[in-house]
Amino acid sequence: MSPHPPTPVQVPGISREELLRLVGRLQEEKQFIDDELRRWMPSQELYPPRIHQAMSYAVLGGGKRLRPILLLCSAEVVGGPARKLTRAAAAIEFVHTASLILDDLPCMDDGLLRRGRQTVHRVHGEATAILSAMSLIAHSFELLARNTAELRIRKHQITEAVEELGRAIGSSGMSAGQHVDLEIESYGSNFENLEFIHSRKTGALFIAAAKIGAVLSRASKLQLEALASYAKNLGLAFQITDDILDSTSSAKELGKDVRKDDGKVTFVSLFGMEASQRATSQLIATAKGSLSIFGAEADLLRSLADYVGIRKE
Ligand code: IPE
Ligand code: IPE
Ligand code: MG
Ligand code: MG
Ligand code: MG
Repeated sequence: MSPHPPTPVQVPGISREELLRLVGRLQEEKQFIDDELRRWMPSQELYPPRIHQAMSYAVLGGGKRLRPILLLCSAEVVGGPARKLTRAAAAIEFVHTASLILDDLPCMDDGLLRRGRQTVHRVHGEATAILSAMSLIAHSFELLARNTAELRIRKHQITEAVEELGRAIGSSGMSAGQHVDLEIESYGSNFENLEFIHSRKTGALFIAAAKIGAVLSRASKLQLEALASYAKNLGLAFQITDDILDSTSSAKELGKDVRKDDGKVTFVSLFGMEASQRATSQLIATAKGSLSIFGAEADLLRSLADYVGIRKE
């Protein structure tokens, strides 16, 4: 989902027409979300300028916007006010962007390039990068808590959404996954830890995105479970494709550094390329299978899963 949609290649199981339609549809969603992110960002004009500039640089510089798309689609599927949940959608993207700023720090993955540009700490310095990530996370909770009194969302739904986000990124969620990812030598390169890392560092925010969209739309327990299962499998597939791309793609195509996973535990390093591709296909099929309680209203979520299997960036 670069500004210019990539020329789709033939993918088994998906016709060329279907693929063109899918790329176009995701592009439209991305455009809608980009506008909403601009709307909900703290202004770059605020004092002190550099921290607000760093936040804008990180958020508005690109990105596929998959997590907010997932949140809005999950709301839509259960009949919620999807187009109006844009504060929540922005919150999830701000948290994700903060995680990228931190992930790129010299003490973490030491990234030079992100979303096709220099990483935040290279432009604004490490201290401002850390503070801008913290501020994006704080701003996300503020946005979520303020979520749309005008939509008549009940207090307990908002509380549940705030709780989901906190749990997803805390020391049993994303932070736990990032910690084990970085300290794998002391924890051990085995499948159990790989599953732990993937499900926390990436899976947890995918699940939170789907659940927040659903919870704010008064989803039933059955719908919530179906969407959580979909997001869990999608998140795992997404991280495996991220690991595949790290070892097969280029910085130019991805817009971020490649070959960063040497010394890390990934699906590719443990099982090889072929098994990784097979696992991705299986996870995508399982994700789509979780949507069986829904009809055509879940078609965009099904397409999103197909996209994860064929993405090139
Ligand atoms: C990158 O996520 C970090 C991972 C969890 C693998 P994305 O590939 O969604 O990053 P952007 O938002 O499109 O830049
Ligand atoms: C990062 O995983 C996950 C989070 C940012 C939480 P990676 O380190 O593999 O992501 P990239 O490849 O740098 O985007
Ligand atoms: Mg990392
Ligand atoms: Mg990284
Ligand atoms: Mg990676």
